Amino acid sequence: PDGRPLTGRTAVVTAGPTFEPIDPVRGLTNRSSGKQGYAVAAALAELGAEVTLISGPVALEAPVGVTRVWVEAATEMKAAVEAALPADIAVMSAAVADWRVDGVASGKIKKKPGGPPSLALIENPDILAGVSAPGPRRPKLVVGFAAETSDLEANARAKLSRKGCDWIIGNDVSDEVFGSDGNAVTLFTRDGAEPWPRQSKTDVARKIAQRIADHFKA
Ligand code: C5P
Repeated sequence: PDGRPLTGRTAVVTAGPTFEPIDPVRGLTNRSSGKQGYAVAAALAELGAEVTLISGPVALEAPVGVTRVWVEAATEMKAAVEAALPADIAVMSAAVADWRVDGVASGKIKKKPGGPPSLALIENPDILAGVSAPGPRRPKLVVGFAAETSDLEANARAKLSRKGCDWIIGNDVSDEVFGSDGNAVTLFTRDGAEPWPRQSKTDVARKIAQRIADHFKA
């Protein structure tokens, strides 16, 4: 009605790292800046979508018109994503920790003379695979990311089928991606691969949002 291609569509976007607690003051995390995911949320909103951004701890302003939900651990991110469904579009760009600490200590772990404690890790749920699973709440279009340092195409294709998503944005992270403003990605769909030249994360996000809009128009 307002002329924008995604008006009336809902989207859920994950972004940033997760923070997996060890005890009340310590945790495990990673170097994701959240920039690419935040840019995707902003670009979808610019095209008219109603966007819920599920964000791990990052130092970024929420994009205009986007509803942000703060989370820390992967398990919280999964619950927040499920609470944001149903949605037409899901873009999972968060760098979800593969493992969390089994048996988080309720008090600060004390330094003891006997040596350092051992951390037992358990696997986190795969949020993207869960969202992609067939069912009445599955979004019509589910997009994942794959950050790879080698064999981008093979790894991205494997992820596409293992996780059951519709598209994978393959990201060669062998140079200059984390925290940087630029990104060189390839869009992998079920039947094609489209490499895009290195450009700003904002432009990558606009291109992703435009492709999503084209998909819903077709
Ligand atoms: O397996 P890998 O972590 O490389 O997959 C990356 C894609 O899967 C990203 O879209 C990421 O957001 C998503 N993912 C997820 N939950 C996990 C691990 C990855 O949603 N536990």
